[in-house]
Amino acid sequence: MILIDGKKTSLELQEEIAKEVKQLISEGKKQPHLAAILVGDDPASQTYVTSKVKACDRVGFKSTLVKMEAYTSEQKLLEKIKELNSNDDIDGYIVQLPLPKHINEQKIIESISPSKDVDGFHPVNVGRLVLNLPTYVSATPYGIVHLLERYQIPTEGKHCVVIGRSHIVGSPMSILMAKNTNLGNCTVTLCHSKTKNLKEHTLQADIIIAAIGRPNFVTADMVKQGAAVIDVGINRVEDNTTPKGYQLVGDVKFDEVSKKVSYITPVPGGVGPMTIASLLQNTLKASKKEI
Ligand code: GUN
Repeated sequence: MILIDGKKTSLELQEEIAKEVKQLISEGKKQPHLAAILVGDDPASQTYVTSKVKACDRVGFKSTLVKMEAYTSEQKLLEKIKELNSNDDIDGYIVQLPLPKHINEQKIIESISPSKDVDGFHPVNVGRLVLNLPTYVSATPYGIVHLLERYQIPTEGKHCVVIGRSHIVGSPMSILMAKNTNLGNCTVTLCHSKTKNLKEHTLQADIIIAAIGRPNFVTADMVKQGAAVIDVGINRVEDNTTPKGYQLVGDVKFDEVSKKVSYITPVPGGVGPMTIASLLQNTLKASKKEI
């Protein structure tokens, strides 16, 4: 079994980005600039956004963090988005999700300029992904594709089962894996909460991508011997023996599943850190006006 080291791979990618930024700056080109809007004080969102800002420093990007109160109106947020859309110094930006309940998330996503939508959430960018046109691929699926590539996990003609159909991970992941490209060319089955006999599907899988958001959901009896398993879950499970009062657990029951597989990502330290590297890559593309 090979343990896929997302932390190491992410840092390698970030080093490559940092080199490119140095090069750009030495040529007198613009320093890439990522902005993030954080509305409210959800602890997990705060942690994610802080990591994204820190990563910008590491690779030599400029970053701007816009913090807004939880009671911010939808109108105020739309005004801020308009400001970022027209600020030429900002190459790309994200609005951290989830947003407070009184704000219409879809309306917000659709107000982001597609050319600055480095999360790849805007319908224009999702459409471009489906049509195999240059686009920003949302960060988590893009990070997973990088991991498969770096670990040379074969995909062509393989059967990939994606569990979960969220807009952020499951749906774009299923599209990427089915694409007629080197990384892809899989037969893809997209499973979700209404799938009947889930185990019958997962047992056929050469690659399982678990993105259902339920702790320890994928158990050893659901996995074929020698499969590659990618765990997207980051679930906080109460644990009073830890200083924080919780531990992070994936969607895969790691202890038992790891004994059967050829490759597996740990939680933490697997897919999570890759999300950040992918976001930086998208921002670099934005600053070079590649999309
Ligand atoms: N919330 C969870 N994942 C993400 C992400 O990749 N981007 C944004 N904007 N919000 C998220």
